[in-house]
Amino acid sequence: MCGIFAYLNFHANKERRHILEVLFNGLRRLEYRGYDSAGIAIDDSLSPLHYTSSPPPPLVFRQAGNIESLVNSVNQEITNTDLNLDEVFYFHAGIAHTRWATHGEPAPRNSHPQSSGPGDDFLVVHNGVITNYEVLKETLVRHGFTFDSDTDTEVIPKLAKFVFDKANEEGEQTVTFCEVVFEVMRHLEGAYALIFKSWHYPNELVACKRGSPLLLGVKELDQDKSNNHVFKDAHFLSKNEHPKEFFLSSDPHALVEHTKKVLVIEDGEVVHLKDGGVSILKFERRNGSSRPASVERALSVLEMEVEQINKGKYDHYMQKEIHEQPESLTTTMRGRLIRGGGSRKPKTVLLGGLKDHLKTIRRSRRIVFIGCGTSYNAALASRPILEELSGIPVSMEIASDLWDRQGPIYREDTAVFVSQSGETADTLLALEYARENGALCVGITNTVGSSIARKTHCGVHINAGAEIGVASTKAYTSQIVVMVMLALAIGSDTISSQTRREAIVDGLLDLPNKVREVLKLDEEMKDLAQLLIDEQSLLVFGRGYNYATALEGALKVKEVSLMHSEGILAGEMKHGPLALVDENLPIAVIATRDACFSKQQSVIQQLHARKGRLIVMCSKGDAASVSSSGSCRAIEVPQVEDCLQPVVNIVPLQLLAYHLTVLRGHNVDQPRNLAKSVTTQ
Ligand code: F6R
Repeated sequence: MCGIFAYLNFHANKERRHILEVLFNGLRRLEYRGYDSAGIAIDDSLSPLHYTSSPPPPLVFRQAGNIESLVNSVNQEITNTDLNLDEVFYFHAGIAHTRWATHGEPAPRNSHPQSSGPGDDFLVVHNGVITNYEVLKETLVRHGFTFDSDTDTEVIPKLAKFVFDKANEEGEQTVTFCEVVFEVMRHLEGAYALIFKSWHYPNELVACKRGSPLLLGVKELDQDKSNNHVFKDAHFLSKNEHPKEFFLSSDPHALVEHTKKVLVIEDGEVVHLKDGGVSILKFERRNGSSRPASVERALSVLEMEVEQINKGKYDHYMQKEIHEQPESLTTTMRGRLIRGGGSRKPKTVLLGGLKDHLKTIRRSRRIVFIGCGTSYNAALASRPILEELSGIPVSMEIASDLWDRQGPIYREDTAVFVSQSGETADTLLALEYARENGALCVGITNTVGSSIARKTHCGVHINAGAEIGVASTKAYTSQIVVMVMLALAIGSDTISSQTRREAIVDGLLDLPNKVREVLKLDEEMKDLAQLLIDEQSLLVFGRGYNYATALEGALKVKEVSLMHSEGILAGEMKHGPLALVDENLPIAVIATRDACFSKQQSVIQQLHARKGRLIVMCSKGDAASVSSSGSCRAIEVPQVEDCLQPVVNIVPLQLLAYHLTVLRGHNVDQPRNLAKSVTTQ
């Protein structure tokens, strides 16, 4: 959670107006990561390099609420103080933050940038959680520091000031910004991505990370158009005077409109932007002690287009992401389905990221799916086909629960980590745990270069494209498709299941069309939402492949429309939930055709017998039969292969959740109290 962003222009004349706009836009792109409060720090006046004495402290703005509240308050301040928006900065270093509150209520004093104290010598924006902040705070208080916020972050700038003052007292006049940050890092425990700004080091920024994501973007890098720049040493970029712009960001969404040349910062690295140069340093153990050493890194090119992060013709990101599923699914499968050519060349799948590990996976004693929220649900939807095609027992673990229990994970296990963002703290912790226990770790993420993608032994990217709506939609369907392909790949050496596998490959090829067809239910789901608008609760019953659909449908409804909703395994109905049934409570039953169809028919009968208020999702042509013995509303969906049916069946429920939210007047893309990419435990 939380988004951090920075913009540094070097030898590039930029008006204050432009600088503010770049910082605000950066925050707007990151807002889905948290929208409880926001803040920025910019230089006060003409580039501090013009000052012979100490430059003035930066201007700091902090505001509770979303980015637009910050923008309004900054505009108000500009009007009140006559701050000149036309002022041109030859150099400028600005930092920005959007917050999902962990420690302390959303209030200006708890917003970032957090400060070292009066004079704002050091300012810090932070994504993550510092777990030892209480101990650090006690020490700093003993050294005379006073604290203004309830945040864990505040210890960081204060520690920087402490380190800086101490070095100066000891006569180390030349302590560099980078050295200060390294010393601070030595004391921090927990997860963080940090950007430091200090008027003691005008026109410099230092950033570092451990556990939370951070990227550097470089624009107008040299005048060479090659994408293969290597930072060989601290001064690789410092000797030329070409105007440059540097950006630091929690994710690529805030970079792509400026540049595609990026560097994914690794854990333990420190990035120092100074004099138009970039230094990347890391602690290195030498002769028993560890000291910072320069590291060589290559820039990579972002495979993302600006259009992907715009809403286009849609009102909301969630709406756009629901409707683009035929395309996202096509991209997920691109190049991975082999159409075959007769009996000698079977239809199959090719998952490049796994090819060297398939044998090990096939020999596993167990496959363990690990994830949170929607990603967990996607894994649950894929479990039956993986068990069927691999013959290997598949167990399910909610990442936080696995960690809490320190559940058994063995060397003979294959642990599959499913995560859209690839940065979810709970999943990452479970990944470290599984690695320590010697399991083969497979990552299924939507984010190239994410922590989960990098820390697993192998994996598959779902390639669903940027998902910005906080409620996950298109990533869910792409995750299921990838896990079905995983099942096909693992089972591809079994002759007896070849016909079944080929039918699934055919089903996958046609799946985007089927999803296009089910999206036509949009108006019907809007009508249904209108009918349910004032309800308190919605139960969703599913079983087999569609137990996951029930859980995921209910999750979508509750998280965005703020209506209580619960997904229930239909087989459990008689063991408790039936007591809730009356003529008022709306109940959705998923009863599309598969091996569980007849059981679901009897669930419907039992609910009819108790005058339940039913909404039944059934296969095309079944509407009359499912509603024959009682009043109910039927939603007909196209029938596909059983293991792919969850992909089709979730779409009407996503649409229902979307329309309910709009009709109930809630924020679709930024549901209350939530944020995408949960990087705190
Ligand atoms: C719900 C939702 C969350 C995420 C969960 C895991 O719509 O988005 O439940 O699925 O926080 O996130 P990732 O997949 O990024 O690990």
